[in-house]
Amino acid sequence: MTAAPRTVYIETYGCQMNVSDSELMLGKLAAEGYVQAEGPEGADVILVNTCAIREHAETRVIGRLGELKRHMKPGTIMGVTGCMAQRLGPRLLDQARHVSLVIGPDGYRSLPALLEGAREGHRTAVTDFDLEEHYADVLPIRGDRVKAWIPVQRGCDYRCTYCIVPSTRGPERSRALPDVVREVQAVAEQGITEVILLGQTVNSYRAGEHDFADLLRAVGAVDGIKRLRFTSPHPNDFSDRVIAAMAEVDAMCEHVHLPMQSGSSRTLKRMLRRYTREDYLACVDRLRAAIPGLALTTDVIVGFPGETDDEFAETLTAVDAVGFDDAFTFKFSPREGTPATRLPAELTVPEDVASARLEALIERVRAGARERNLRRLGEKHEVLVERGARRGEALMARTRDFKTVLVPAEGYQPGDYLTVELTGTTGSTFTGAPVASRAALPMAG
Ligand code: SAH
Ligand code: SF4
Ligand code: F3S
Repeated sequence: MTAAPRTVYIETYGCQMNVSDSELMLGKLAAEGYVQAEGPEGADVILVNTCAIREHAETRVIGRLGELKRHMKPGTIMGVTGCMAQRLGPRLLDQARHVSLVIGPDGYRSLPALLEGAREGHRTAVTDFDLEEHYADVLPIRGDRVKAWIPVQRGCDYRCTYCIVPSTRGPERSRALPDVVREVQAVAEQGITEVILLGQTVNSYRAGEHDFADLLRAVGAVDGIKRLRFTSPHPNDFSDRVIAAMAEVDAMCEHVHLPMQSGSSRTLKRMLRRYTREDYLACVDRLRAAIPGLALTTDVIVGFPGETDDEFAETLTAVDAVGFDDAFTFKFSPREGTPATRLPAELTVPEDVASARLEALIERVRAGARERNLRRLGEKHEVLVERGARRGEALMARTRDFKTVLVPAEGYQPGDYLTVELTGTTGSTFTGAPVASRAALPMAG
């Protein structure tokens, strides 16, 4: 008698690195005969892949763990993975008695064995870092059929004073260039045309004699790859070589997500970002000079300890000076053990001040983006259809410069490229009308 295959449900929080890690965990377990469950109800294994970046991210997971308990049947194994697992380790086992596995980002290779142990009643926390670990031999099970997340670097060697990532992801290590190229070739063969290279400071990639410029050129040269993106770069790691490669590689999209964090050199110094406002703006200028039409998005933290009204005002003027297409904005959240928590208590920015700054910042970003987006109506762009949109009969597509465009569903499906005219905008997203693509027009002259 053959037993029904075991099922595993993975719920993912946090950044794309976690999305990619979940794909690897699914791949690892699929190789052992597990099948993916679409929901938690009745799954044999439930894994919650967590984020620890802000306190809110963690309280959400604690709440969710309580809810998921209801979906457990006798014998279901509940595991917590990812950055919060790494940060709390055995403390999580004490806090949530229905959780039997806690596994940090470098421990997924032993997932099948740990699950066996859990079935025998063991409760285990695995939080060792493994500086060699890239899961290079694990075939990921991808959730997206249009674009592929390709991890090229794990960990982080910066020490931004607010950030928990260096302690949850360990030291920086880059994956060998031929390994990355092989994975990109494999996804291209499956018909995926867009890849996004992932790393915490992805442009500091260095493997043997290869830097990030080499990697961009090698990936851009893979047959079938039409769009190449990466996230997140650090402003200090944009060498001339990297910028030249970006300009020369055809597949490289005209969009960079360039975390700024603050527009004040004094705040940046307390954050240990290792650049000034002027350095950041100079980096933007170099990128824009090399890549015409470059769109820029960013991350900004408000209310970092000691941030004065004047310092915050400098963030607003930097937002205006750059003209970001979009920004992820955050209120500073103190993370246990990070250097920022050791700054003098009197530097703490009161909650109401931080909230008001966040609101002002969002408004500033939105107003600038809206004005620029309105000016773009009538432009024609190639878009890649990503998926069905929430709004009725429309599909969600993206331009190379990362604008969301809703296009009519009829006749197109995810993975298709088409040319659209931008016909309307909400201020942030667009609607587009398909126009005959150049290839379909009769040859001129
Ligand atoms: N490695 C990336 C960032 C990863 S974390 C980089 O250096 O750009 C994603 C974003 O979360 C950061 O850019 C930062 O804006 C925000 N963030 C990180 N720690 C935070 C904290 N303690 N409080 C508030 N926001 C934080
Ligand atoms: Fe965190 Fe800074 Fe590393 Fe980014 S570069 S992950 S913000 S320490
Ligand atoms: Fe969160 Fe870890 Fe990513 S803390 S943002 S899931 S690296």
